[in-house]
Amino acid sequence: MAVSLLLECLADGQFHSGEELGALLGVSRSAVWKQLQGIEQRTGLSFFKVPGKGYRLAEPLNLLANSRIDFDEWPIEILDTIDSTNAEALRRVMGQRGHAPFVLLAEHQTSGRGRRGRAWVSPYAKNLYLTAAVTIHGGIKQLEGLSLVVGLAVASALKKLSLVDAGLKWPNDILLFGRKLSGILIELSGDPADSCTAIIGIGLNVNMRNADNIDQPWISLYEALGRPVDRNQLASNVLHELSDYLKLHQSHGFAALKDSWEANHLWQGREVILSAGANQIEGKVLGVGLDGSLRLNVNGYEKSFNGGELSLRLRNDS
Ligand code: BTN
Repeated sequence: MAVSLLLECLADGQFHSGEELGALLGVSRSAVWKQLQGIEQRTGLSFFKVPGKGYRLAEPLNLLANSRIDFDEWPIEILDTIDSTNAEALRRVMGQRGHAPFVLLAEHQTSGRGRRGRAWVSPYAKNLYLTAAVTIHGGIKQLEGLSLVVGLAVASALKKLSLVDAGLKWPNDILLFGRKLSGILIELSGDPADSCTAIIGIGLNVNMRNADNIDQPWISLYEALGRPVDRNQLASNVLHELSDYLKLHQSHGFAALKDSWEANHLWQGREVILSAGANQIEGKVLGVGLDGSLRLNVNGYEKSFNGGELSLRLRNDS
């Protein structure tokens, strides 16, 4: 609590004196400096300390705040630091401490999870790390295409920022100029044959300007638009699109969204290599099936592929 108060006060990037900060927290000036050092260590943020002026952040922070997120359909909780919003949502659902629908957002993830066992780099207050836990009724049929629909929802939120070149890469990466802007990880809790909770994790690179430990080409909205983006406004947009698309999917199935998904698929008609463990399959992208599978033309035959462990890349000559 005290930590967020300090950060909220310093978020404007202006100088604040030790007296002011101490009074805010009800502690001494030296205790303020200790707390700031703790925050530096925990978050990777850095503060300037100038005698006679006080403290300021190296750059202003756009912190998440419930009051600035314009979405009230599902309850939203903002966490400061967590291992992973997906892991936390799963723990809450499984331990009966959380009942879908609910949304978790975090400023910082220490073990952000990506697809296929990868890590999701999650620096403090830079990007969106959002998990929506929603109940899916109707068994396996209602799960078909779900992860593609979530990608479509995020792409639609991004198009509203005039990012017309952003598009999808099967199953649910969002790419811009060939680089990854957003990734989606869906995990399930409960009985997929009956009613279960889908833990829908969305990572979106927003104001991140550097990161040396990402093992694939990436881009952020800051780089694409040349300006910082308000993460609260963006979270509202993503949640509205997500809720609308999930309703469409629930009532009409993926059939209603398949054409739109293919229209947004950046690799439609391209020659690709699909990796499934050690197996590599070369083919031309025909589209997606009603179950969300990838349809490829492989040596003149149409084949469909599905599964969380598959990964796709363009053939060098395509
Ligand atoms: C991918 O590898 O493309 C999926 C990345 C998903 C990252 C998001 S960030 C919010 C949520 N919490 C996690 O630990 N992962 C997802």
